[in-house]
Amino acid sequence: MDTRIEKIYAAADYIKKMIGDRKPVAGIVLGSGLGKLADKIGNPILVPYKDIPHFPASTAVGHKGNFIAGKLGGKFVVAMQGRFHYYEGYTMEYVTLPIRVMKVLGIEHLFVSNAAGGVNFGFKIGDLMIIKDHINLLPNPLIGPNMEEFGPRFPDMTRPYSPQLIAAAKEIAAQEGIELKEGTYLASTGPTYETPAEYKYFRTIGADAVGMSTIPEVIVARHSSIPVFGISVITNEAHDDYAPDYENDGDDVVRAANAAAEKMNLLFERIIGQL
Ligand code: HPA
Repeated sequence: MDTRIEKIYAAADYIKKMIGDRKPVAGIVLGSGLGKLADKIGNPILVPYKDIPHFPASTAVGHKGNFIAGKLGGKFVVAMQGRFHYYEGYTMEYVTLPIRVMKVLGIEHLFVSNAAGGVNFGFKIGDLMIIKDHINLLPNPLIGPNMEEFGPRFPDMTRPYSPQLIAAAKEIAAQEGIELKEGTYLASTGPTYETPAEYKYFRTIGADAVGMSTIPEVIVARHSSIPVFGISVITNEAHDDYAPDYENDGDDVVRAANAAAEKMNLLFERIIGQL
């Protein structure tokens, strides 16, 4: 058997033993500084990544490293409090392993979130951006022998983010008075933040927000035909003017994400409540 698939099933079997046979309606990936949504999960069952076979340990700042199952918006969900990034040195197989594990657990929707730099001049720190599309400048996680049981060799990416979930989010946001931006998320490897020329370049090629994650997870979910909803929390504004009084800093990014997380949490909870 494909050893990649053996690892996926070994991890999924371990989690199933912990959470029982209940099938989660949705999987949620909580990005940098956005782990607090896990506190809203009712009757939580917490599975530390370090206990799950083949799961790497999460090393990134603002990432806790737990798989959590429980009730959100009245629905049974599984959430990742922290993700694995390519810049941490993990191969794409490991970056995306949890998504395939969630697929085996039975999720029918994937919710992803991240902290991102706003390259669109209309974006401010604390804004939430619905991810409508993406530009992938990371290696594609589907490179290599295709896992036929998960999806086709050449997956369609015409609607990478679910138009139905986006419509639901807009309706809920209007009811709750939450302002939402919408745009294209670009992922590069990091771990350096962008140079002024890179921010300009990313804006020129159509990006509205930039980060170092999420897209590999989305590609793997779409490979398995899982509808995806994504939010970028804008944690810093792209400075491309060589201003002497400004620096990008990982701790500031986590703080800004934390401050805006409440709005995103409400949105995720209400959308999941309607699934
Ligand atoms: N660039 C890349 N990744 C990020 C940024 C950024 O400006 N902000 C938060 N994550």
